[in-house]
Amino acid sequence: MAARRRSSPPAPAGELKELRLRLAEAEEALRAIRNGEVDAVVVASEEGDRVFTLQGAERAYRMLIESMNEGALILTPKKTILYANQCFAKMVRCPLEQVMGSSLRRFLSAEDRTTLRPLLLRADKSGTKALALLIAGDGSRLPVQISMRPQGGNGFNGATVAMVVTDMTESRRTEELLRALTHRLVQVQEDERERVAFELHDNITQLICAVVFRSQALLDALPAHDGPSRKKALQLRDMLGAIADEVARISHNLGPSLLDHVGLVAVLRDARTEFADRTGVSVKLTCMHFAARLPEDAELAIYRILQEALRNVEKHANARRVTVSLRQRGAFVQLVINDDGIGFDQDDAPARRIDKGGLGLLSMRERANFVGGTLKIKSVRRAGTEIEALIPIKTR
Ligand SMILES: Nc1ncnc2c1ncn2[C@@H]1O[C@H](COP(=O)(O)OP(=O)(O)OP(=O)(O)O)[C@@H](O)[C@H]1O
Ligand SMILES: [Mg+2]
Repeated sequence: MAARRRSSPPAPAGELKELRLRLAEAEEALRAIRNGEVDAVVVASEEGDRVFTLQGAERAYRMLIESMNEGALILTPKKTILYANQCFAKMVRCPLEQVMGSSLRRFLSAEDRTTLRPLLLRADKSGTKALALLIAGDGSRLPVQISMRPQGGNGFNGATVAMVVTDMTESRRTEELLRALTHRLVQVQEDERERVAFELHDNITQLICAVVFRSQALLDALPAHDGPSRKKALQLRDMLGAIADEVARISHNLGPSLLDHVGLVAVLRDARTEFADRTGVSVKLTCMHFAARLPEDAELAIYRILQEALRNVEKHANARRVTVSLRQRGAFVQLVINDDGIGFDQDDAPARRIDKGGLGLLSMRERANFVGGTLKIKSVRRAGTEIEALIPIKTR
């Protein structure tokens, strides 16, 4: 379709019919341009008709952009919306003709305007991405990801910026669901650990202790001259003693009761020694002294994060040295676990890690979040892994 426009002065006053006709023609031309149905615009002037064509490829791109399920924008250097597709207009619940020509600021909160400003200035050739909340015409808010990339000079004083705006509502919902599931998982795991610790302590340990006493009684009853039998009975008693110790260790590690009895620092020291003795990996622990006990749930979170991190070191890292530090950082307790092992690729999405069966990193993060803290993981292949948990201090 070719749309016709005149640049010459309007027809004489009174020719209302002619004016209405032209207005309708102009509106139709605008509609067609927006929908990508126009491939040429004819402007009539005193020098004759001039044809402006939308080249084939450009028209195809416009159709593509109009049909995509993401918002697309072109901004002038002053961030005025030069072009927006229908999808963006729907996102901000505003008629397209009101979106075009508006400033992008109109659809952003004051906070997002401040965050996006330097990003827009810095967006280099490779582009940049940011999360933001779009404020729609009716005041509703939409979580989005904005990808921006500057375009070469388009006749404006400076480069225009192309933006793709992706609706993140679904992705947020999935994240929230995943978080709720992990949270539940951590709770179930804690309950189950407590139950097993209780069973081990109250039933298995008691039984083993009874057998140790019996084996001691058997040893005492054997005649002093029966050397070989006494040696076997002695071995049996020692083995049973070792089993009792091992069961007690497992039961301690499982249940949080040890924390209550001896406190966080002693439990961390215990975990360090037990880990180093069992695996042969050297562990350096630096703990600062806290004037008061941290809340129960914060202590438990720190202890479980350390256990999970050490389990990962043992299972995956092939490390020689581990350093653990616990110190105060302003209003937070900072736990850092560093290993010099093989590291891993952090770009593996959480869903992919779950696919592979891994829940440890997720549950560490959940434990930190649950007590109002955060967890950072830094890992580089062949250069080791660092886990940092920051837990807010609210002393008991
Ligand atoms: N310290 C580490 N060194 C090297 N790789 C690690 C380390 N910690 C984690 N990883 C890698 O990250 C993946 C995910 O760890 P995560 O603890 O979530 O799961 P997992 O240990 O495989 O299983 P789970 O903890 O549920 O028993 C691991 O499979 C491993 O590849
Ligand atoms: Mg793990």
